[in-house]
Amino acid sequence: MLGRQGVLGAPFGHRQTEGLVEVLGVHPHEVVRGGNLHRGDAPQLWRVLRIPPGEAARPEARSRPKEQRRTIWPHGDTHAEVLSPPERPSHAALTLTAELPIPLPEERTMKIFIDTADIDEIRDAAAMGLVDGVTTNPSLIAKTGRPQKEVTLEICEIVDGPISAEVLATDYEGMVREGRELASWHRNIVVKIPLIAEGLKAVQTLSQEGIKTNVTLCFSPTQALLAAKSGATYISPFLGRVDDISGEGMELLEQILAIYRNYDIKTEVLAASIRHPLHVVQAMLLGADVATLPHKVILQLLKHPLTDIGLQKFLQDAAKTPKP
Ligand code: E4P
Repeated sequence: MLGRQGVLGAPFGHRQTEGLVEVLGVHPHEVVRGGNLHRGDAPQLWRVLRIPPGEAARPEARSRPKEQRRTIWPHGDTHAEVLSPPERPSHAALTLTAELPIPLPEERTMKIFIDTADIDEIRDAAAMGLVDGVTTNPSLIAKTGRPQKEVTLEICEIVDGPISAEVLATDYEGMVREGRELASWHRNIVVKIPLIAEGLKAVQTLSQEGIKTNVTLCFSPTQALLAAKSGATYISPFLGRVDDISGEGMELLEQILAIYRNYDIKTEVLAASIRHPLHVVQAMLLGADVATLPHKVILQLLKHPLTDIGLQKFLQDAAKTPKP
């Protein structure tokens, strides 16, 4: 999940309160999550919600124990929710939410990566402004018939975003060595590591060194949990390959997203092995952070027969219009 930080400076009651708030894109209605704010010595956990205009703020069911109940105070279309409720509502809460950073639109947008090493495909999709990043793997690199470094660096010239490059070693030392080497090629390179025990050790080491990782070949929620614990920047559940063996790729994605949300895990969920437009729609509905799409699927998303028929008719009619 994406995060950014904002500094709060707001009156709380009659006192000045300052605190650092971590801002996360957690859920469409849950755009800002407060960190610990301090009112005197009493820390409070704040969550700020943005609720669509017209929809009323709903306090949680009264059947819950009072100490667990959440209180929501409306303020325009922004609401403050206190998770560890103070003794009594304070108007200062409203002032506070008004001064929170406004969530950036991109924090609520699923990022699109292109899943290819084909330079023409990347250029084509990038020219439409559709590519936030690129994922490659050894099979995709092999298709180009060129060395990994040469292709990867050319991709980095085209797309200014995360570019996943995969290690080939399968032992800890080899993966760390290769990971450091890959990361040294370009600041945007994300080291792709297979989800095996040695891989998680490598992820742990590389993430401690500030090197971004994309843990690949994920096929279970437990694997995803472990990858996150090891410090993965991205986890790549392979939806299509689960479907290929009569499994439910989307169920896997849903479970990973639920687990990560339950524990505020920051590892981004990258829906991979996407085979058709419905995969994309479902991944968007579930709230995946990223979907990596083959060029063919990007074109399928774009295509609509009524667009083509409509355009053809407009052009035919335009041809009948007298020229000045
Ligand atoms: C992801 O990073 C992989 O490169 C890719 O999505 C695998 O897709 P496939 O199962 O269609 O090969």
